[in-house]
Amino acid sequence: MATWSNFNLQNSASPLMEQIIFFHDHTLIILIMITILVGYLMINLFFNKYINRFLLEGQMIELIWTILPTITLIFIALPSLRLLYLLDELNNPLITLKSIGHQWYWSYEYSDFNHVSFDSYMINYDKSNIDNFRLLDVDNRIILPMNNQIRIMVTATDVIHSWTVPSLGVKIDANPGRLNQTNLFINRPGIFFGQCSEICGANHSFMPIMIESISIKNFINWINNYS
Ligand code: CUA
Repeated sequence: MATWSNFNLQNSASPLMEQIIFFHDHTLIILIMITILVGYLMINLFFNKYINRFLLEGQMIELIWTILPTITLIFIALPSLRLLYLLDELNNPLITLKSIGHQWYWSYEYSDFNHVSFDSYMINYDKSNIDNFRLLDVDNRIILPMNNQIRIMVTATDVIHSWTVPSLGVKIDANPGRLNQTNLFINRPGIFFGQCSEICGANHSFMPIMIESISIKNFINWINNYS
């Protein structure tokens, strides 16, 4: 859950976000090891007395400090490519959600059903209402069934926006004149938040994304009763 002063990524609510967190931790460990090694060497340079006036070449050390970073990069590149292709793969989605970015709100269409579409505006913060999320709450939530593959189609009507939901591992640009595809799979019921993350104008901060994840039975009920 997102809270104040959170230094880390939000907890994952989807299998892909879990993989992203694993990759982040893996890469961060390598980064820390490199920083410690280079830091140690740099500090050492100030204090040692290894002076050799006749040193012209050192082929062995050059061989080592060329090959070691190469191997290190491979250890990052291979898991990165695996993740890239995992994120891109969409396996037999149950439903499709089309989200359209506007200045400055999102609108949504459930293309599998007739006339299920709505605009989703941020609503005013109400101090007295404990269920109200400041700058994140919207008037019409996205309703999605949990434990199902969902296809997301993303586009925009005016400028570039970005449909981003950190806990579900989704971040995809919404471009005018282009239809982008991504996918998500929500692990559990709950409410998941996102915000636009492409600087799109004065009210860029005020076009939040709010997903309500419910069971498939309740989702069918919601679709049937949609007017
Ligand atoms: Cu839309 Cu920033």
